[in-house]
Amino acid sequence: MPGAASGMGRACVDRLRGIADVVVTSDIGGAVDVVCDVSDPGAVNALVAHVQERGSFRALVHAAGISPTMGDARRVFDVDLVGTQLLLDTFEPLVVAGSAAVCFASSAAYQIGPYVTAEQEALLRDPLAPDFLDRAVDAAGGDPGIAYALAKVGVQRAAARAATRWGARGGRVVSLSPGLIDTPMGRRELEQQPPMQQMLASTPLQRMGTADEVAAVAAFLVSDDASFLSGVDVLVDGGLQGTSAAGA
Ligand SMILES: NC(=O)c1ccc[n+]([C@@H]2O[C@H](COP(=O)([O-])OP(=O)(O)OC[C@H]3O[C@@H](n4cnc5c(N)ncnc54)[C@H](O)[C@@H]3O)[C@@H](O)[C@H]2O)c1
Repeated sequence: MPGAASGMGRACVDRLRGIADVVVTSDIGGAVDVVCDVSDPGAVNALVAHVQERGSFRALVHAAGISPTMGDARRVFDVDLVGTQLLLDTFEPLVVAGSAAVCFASSAAYQIGPYVTAEQEALLRDPLAPDFLDRAVDAAGGDPGIAYALAKVGVQRAAARAATRWGARGGRVVSLSPGLIDTPMGRRELEQQPPMQQMLASTPLQRMGTADEVAAVAAFLVSDDASFLSGVDVLVDGGLQGTSAAGA
């Protein structure tokens, strides 16, 4: 469970412990089973080897990520998109019937969606290409906010592509796009980015979501109750996107 040290990843650990044998990972150490920077192929290989040793692979909940105020455009693409592709590819050989993955994207992917060019879509299709980071930073004009939104579009696409490959082994992959959620990251963005206040004011439920509300959806998505759900994105945003798309 990459990203499990705080926020929504932590809440997912709390939900899944007791139901499953959970491997807790973080990029920073502390009370975790495996230290894993998801953008480091060697660390991802070591994580997958550790999971393999523990027995049959059931679920990947990938909540690791950084937001636009936490890194430059290159680092945002590297952690948020390259890391996701590495995890999906490296876990793939472990997939058996009933395995499932949830990759955290963002409602930011919906906001930038109408403006993504065909050239950017083509670029996002191959995050592990040797020149990907250089080209992606150019495509985002070096802006970490645009990089974040494009990287999260890439996460949604990576999950959909992986659904076909994992599906051949009986596994499922979905992405989950949170809106504004009350975590260390969500609070930081709300404080530092004025448009977030507007987002909050326009959210039908008139509040941030809680980490546990999102973890409840993630736990459902990896459960057998969601056994015919794959290759799609699930938006958990308190109604913001749906109502603004409807002009409501
Ligand atoms: N909080 C929000 O409002 C919000 C909104 C939309 C999407 N998201 C996404 O949801 C996910 C979880 O966000 P959160 O709010 O819980 O954030 P958070 O900052 O509370 O937790 C993110 C976790 O990812 C870990 N992490 C960061 N870089 C890493 C790396 N290179 N390798 C491994 N782990 C790394 C951090 O240590 C931390 O444990 C992220 O992908 C984020 O982009 C968050």
